[in-house]
Amino acid sequence: MEDSWEVLARECQGCRECALCQTRKNVVFGVGNPAAEIMLVGEGPGANEDEQGIPFVGRAGQFLDDMLAIIGLDRTKVYIANIVKCRPPGNRDPLNVEQDACIGYLRRQMALIRPKILICLGRIAAMRLINDKFRITKEHGIWHDIDGMRMMAMYHPSALLRDPSKRPETFNDLKELQREVGRICERTELTRPW
Ligand code: URA
Repeated sequence: MEDSWEVLARECQGCRECALCQTRKNVVFGVGNPAAEIMLVGEGPGANEDEQGIPFVGRAGQFLDDMLAIIGLDRTKVYIANIVKCRPPGNRDPLNVEQDACIGYLRRQMALIRPKILICLGRIAAMRLINDKFRITKEHGIWHDIDGMRMMAMYHPSALLRDPSKRPETFNDLKELQREVGRICERTELTRPW
């Protein structure tokens, strides 16, 4: 049977496939434009996201919005989701068993959206979607062609808040993203931030 957003969202909201369901307040499904050509994938919800059921709404989320604005993007032009949809307690990294239990939902979101460009936000997403030995310090900003998508990892916005010295490299990665959007995205209108 063909998948649909309604079926997927319903299954995801009722999910009890891993122990994170016992501590979550809300399933954090995804946000943005389901017809987007660009998808961004983080690692998992934090406390604010768990409260609101929306990805990237805390400080890191504000910083992500600022990063997108630099290249004329906003949440109406991208779709944002996470590797795991429920908050790992204490903001620890999601365990492999939790990622394994959850990744199918993200794959189904990717299949429904069929983005041309997918940006991994941070090491956890890059290790899951690009390659399991991914080194974010060495490999951020490099394009990979995977399953018909252009994939690139950038530093996670939380890492950029913690360590501002990484921001110039991320500015270059954002410009690289902007170039690729201009090159291959037909329906994404970029405003001119500069
Ligand atoms: N960090 C993430 O990786 N995802 C969120 O949704 C929020 C913070």
